[in-house]
Amino acid sequence: MIKVTMTDIVNLAKNRWVVYAGSEIYGWLANAWDYGPYGSLLKENIKNLWIKEFVQKREDMMLLDAAILMNPKVWVASWHVWGFSDPLMDCKICNKRLRADKLIEEDYAKKDIDQVADGMTKEEMEIYIKENNVTCFECWNSDFTEIKDFNLMFKTYQWVTEDSSSMVYLRPETAQGIFVNFANVARTSRRKIPFGVAQVWKSFRNEITPWNFIFRTREFEQMEIEYFCKPGTEKEIHNKWNKDCENFLVKTLWMDIRNIRFRAHSPEELSHYSNWTYDIEFKYPFGWGELRGIASRTDFDLKAHMKDSKQDMSYFDSVNNKKYIPYVVEPAVWLTRLILASLVDAYTIDEETGRTYLKFEPRVAPIKVWVLPIVKKIWNIAKEIYVKLTDDFICEYDEVWSVGKRYARFDEIGTPFCVTIDTDNYKVGKVTVRHRDSMKQELVEISKLNEYLRKRLK
Ligand code: GAP
Repeated sequence: MIKVTMTDIVNLAKNRWVVYAGSEIYGWLANAWDYGPYGSLLKENIKNLWIKEFVQKREDMMLLDAAILMNPKVWVASWHVWGFSDPLMDCKICNKRLRADKLIEEDYAKKDIDQVADGMTKEEMEIYIKENNVTCFECWNSDFTEIKDFNLMFKTYQWVTEDSSSMVYLRPETAQGIFVNFANVARTSRRKIPFGVAQVWKSFRNEITPWNFIFRTREFEQMEIEYFCKPGTEKEIHNKWNKDCENFLVKTLWMDIRNIRFRAHSPEELSHYSNWTYDIEFKYPFGWGELRGIASRTDFDLKAHMKDSKQDMSYFDSVNNKKYIPYVVEPAVWLTRLILASLVDAYTIDEETGRTYLKFEPRVAPIKVWVLPIVKKIWNIAKEIYVKLTDDFICEYDEVWSVGKRYARFDEIGTPFCVTIDTDNYKVGKVTVRHRDSMKQELVEISKLNEYLRKRLK
């Protein structure tokens, strides 16, 4: 099997309208990425499949869309104001700002130690860096300032004055929007526990060292679920979510199971709110890395908001005649990171022919059908077929270049079907449908074309 590199992925994304460097004409804003015509569709398709799988098909799930700007007291209660920080230090030689834990993990990787540095204290990190002579990424010296906590929340101001009374944060996770609405959702939906609330949209983190294209960015889209359950049932529910999350990747998105693995967090690595957490890791070209987390969040957040807001966040269980604060299981995934994993997973190079194509599940593919006349002079017939197909699918029409070159272009962005129109077949009411993966070609009646494709794209 030919191994895909990060350069392959970045080049494909940039050249095929998937992802552009943000504000490129002004020399880029570091780590800002714009999703191009195909990237936006790809994102939308994955998001819609996630909503279909986890909201539409489930009686126990609902969708929410909370505001990005929240009362700053939310972030005090949730501990983000005190605890949401990364260990930061500067290289005294080249002044590069660095994350101590990432530098240590780089060192682990060089020594083939499969470990993360999350549980280490600042002192332990300083000792490790000194004893192991860990060097700066930039200048390869080992002379650093002491490690300081750097809060990752972006701040901005409401109203006209820029002082602490008008300061607000851009949310670093969508989860808190769900927690502060728990009582609203429980009351208005009249759902019985267990139930879950899903949310998709932007979050922001002022990452010190954003990294590897769209893997770690400062602005990203999260797809989070907070699943509320009776205390004591969270382990069983967590296990079910592990399976559901794996199924979404493997069965819905067609990811290769060999590219994913589960990893349990060690006690030192667990977030302050969690009693256990599993990550699903993905095999990126740069090695195994986190793709999504499934955390058991206990009643930490609801209790914290109940204490600070003085509002009742408990739930009355009418079946058992008991009042309690629910426990929460949180399957969270970052849509933008999932886009990277999907591109890597789908990237296929045929060993014999060298043909490159993205093997997306058809519903994931940005363009579903590409319509092309064999020769330009029948463009009006081809356009008519194209217009009819756009009633059902996102399609593209193309009449430039040779057919072979056009096929290569559609393959590169993973278009599952091409419809080719030629005069002879058109005369008998037929067109040719070409399948991306097998390159098989079939004659299909024009009157049944939409239906034929609908069956294969549902
Ligand atoms: N509400 C839970 C939460 O925010 P987290 O562990 O901070 O948990 C969850 O993040 C997932 O988000 C991680 O599994 C990781 O894949 C992804 N993630 C975290 N920071 C990211 C960033 N800066 N850019 C892209 N993805 C990120």
